[in-house]
Amino acid sequence: MTIHIGANPGDIAETVLMPGDPYRAKWAAETFLDDAECVNKVRGMLGFTGTWKGNRVTIQGSGMGMPSLSIYANELITAFNAQTLIRIGSCGAMQEDIALRDIIIAMTASSLSTPSRGIFKEINFAPCADYHMLTRAYDAAVAKGSKTHVGGIYSSDVFYDERPDLTQQMQRHGILGVEMEAAELYNLAARHKRRALAVLTVSDHLITKEELPSSERERSFGEMVEIALTAAFG
Ligand code: HPA
Repeated sequence: MTIHIGANPGDIAETVLMPGDPYRAKWAAETFLDDAECVNKVRGMLGFTGTWKGNRVTIQGSGMGMPSLSIYANELITAFNAQTLIRIGSCGAMQEDIALRDIIIAMTASSLSTPSRGIFKEINFAPCADYHMLTRAYDAAVAKGSKTHVGGIYSSDVFYDERPDLTQQMQRHGILGVEMEAAELYNLAARHKRRALAVLTVSDHLITKEELPSSERERSFGEMVEIALTAAFG
């Protein structure tokens, strides 16, 4: 047991999927895993462990934003020995050729700051995904018929952004989408020599201002779960 994860040693699998929303973790575990059992309820940040095609998997909510994700990813890595951590979540599209429901696989994650900033100090570290999982996720997404983009994303500290100039610079430099967690997941994976990936669906568009209706979010979320599981166990 850790401060934020009430699981027993051995309750957490080496492969962990991390949606932001704990209820999505519950839905994904009930929908895709066999013999899923709830392993964490602390603060309502639900986690479940079961099997997918015979492989043990944990699906643990991360909460929103890098400080929250950092708590769960740190404890999963250092106390429960998680080796593979895949964020599954939504993002806002930042380029015109990206549409709602498209999949974005984050090769890198830029940021203004992350919880690791105090460690990196003057270094602009480039957090990046695990290459082998990334290619498998790409193949799985394309096989599903999803329009799939691979490239850099922006991990922001704010959802309600008061700095349109930052968005413009990110767009100008080809950043595909914005979310709030991946950069710190990639930092932690690098620090602890683990594998990390973020697979995202476009839920809103920063240029067209379109939004995915909530009824459709579940379907695209399910696709991401399958892509992430295929990437992990390929
Ligand atoms: N901004 C930040 N995070 C997000 C967004 C967004 O537009 N959409 C989904 N996560």
